[in-house]
Amino acid sequence: MNAKLLVAGVAAVLGVAVAQGALAQAKPEVLVKQRQAVMTLQGKYFGPMAGMAQGKVPYNAAAVQRNAGFLDNLSRMAWDGFDPSTKGEKSRALPSIYDDSGKFKQATSRLENETSKLVSLTRSADEAAVKAQIGAVGKSCGGCHDDFRQKQ
Ligand code: HEC
Repeated sequence: MNAKLLVAGVAAVLGVAVAQGALAQAKPEVLVKQRQAVMTLQGKYFGPMAGMAQGKVPYNAAAVQRNAGFLDNLSRMAWDGFDPSTKGEKSRALPSIYDDSGKFKQATSRLENETSKLVSLTRSADEAAVKAQIGAVGKSCGGCHDDFRQKQ
């Protein structure tokens, strides 16, 4: 078999496997657990950066670069866990997530965009700009929590 055909064949097989995975919807309680786990990890990697931006922790450019990269990936992972099938589960997610899904989507994009910007800035040596952008990321977390997360 020629190499191109082989690659196409493998991709087709993988494509089918991936599609089946997507169709086999996880149980609602599993989705809730997973999205909360992503949020917890976002907190883990964002927390130290927020501390640095506020001057509570000494600035460490290498740590910021690493954490920003992790956060950038995490910032894309929670959203498919906010599936309407999870409405009845115990969680702090407000029903407005599903009733005003356009606005929720905007809030998810905002985090993704601010985090991408942060990653780009960490490649420069401009500490002040990085710190300001950490603040912008924090606002996108807080903005969504204000609108879509139940107060404790
Ligand atoms: C687009 C909306 C949105 C954005 C943006 C967002 N969150 Fe959340 N977050 C939520 C919602 C909704 C919940 C409640 C989820 C639940 O209880 O199932 C939550 C829960 C949490 C929790 C509690 C997790 C738990 O175990 O119950 C933490 C910690 C958290 N978020 C941190 C962050 C951080 C840090 C950021 C920014 C880097 C962020 N979130 C950005 C919507 C968002």
